[in-house]
Amino acid sequence: MPGILLGDVFPNFEADTTAGRIKFHEFLGNSWGILFSHPRDFTPVCTTELACAAKIEQEFKKRGVKMIALSIDSVEDHKNWSKDVMAFNDNAGSPLPFPIIADDNRELSVQLGMLDPDEKDKDGLPLTARCVFVIGPDKKLKLSILYPATTGRNFDEILRAIDSLQLTAQKKVATPVDWKPGEKVMVIPSLSDAEAASLFPNGVTTKDLPSGKKYLRYTQP
Ligand code: BEZ
Repeated sequence: MPGILLGDVFPNFEADTTAGRIKFHEFLGNSWGILFSHPRDFTPVCTTELACAAKIEQEFKKRGVKMIALSIDSVEDHKNWSKDVMAFNDNAGSPLPFPIIADDNRELSVQLGMLDPDEKDKDGLPLTARCVFVIGPDKKLKLSILYPATTGRNFDEILRAIDSLQLTAQKKVATPVDWKPGEKVMVIPSLSDAEAASLFPNGVTTKDLPSGKKYLRYTQP
């Protein structure tokens, strides 16, 4: 079955984009990357999503994350659609600040498991779902999100998840429900109390629980 799992090396595919032909790993360089797919150009939800991504482009840049979008239309369509997207942002005339991959033969969409069987074009062919792939500097898949065509994504959540990925890539911690940068994090279960004490100079606090088990260990990273 096509698709890609967490920890897999992301395929070093070649593709035509609005910024020319790319080889994906070379495009990423040593950066983190985000690839997000869209069902189709010139559709309403997709337009709001791309516009949001363009608006918060600096947030991705700050985090060292290179952005690239994908849909199953041509480079020419992507270029024309990009003008609508920027106009929707009241920024007509400015270029979309990231490339869009033209997957008009659906090759990549099949390879990466991105097609939505419930949404079809007028010829009965499936459209791309709303996938998000976050790729680490080691080119491995760190996070994937898959929404159907009918549900637009939340880019605040995507940035929050990237903050968690980047923190937990550096420190032996995990981020709890609704965590935001600056808040306390959890010590991962595989660390002993002694290891945790030496790794986290800000201290570790434990919440008492009816089970008596000391697994809810918080620290300030
Ligand atoms: C949209 O982007 O609005 C959309 C695209 C395909 C199916 C449903 C909605």
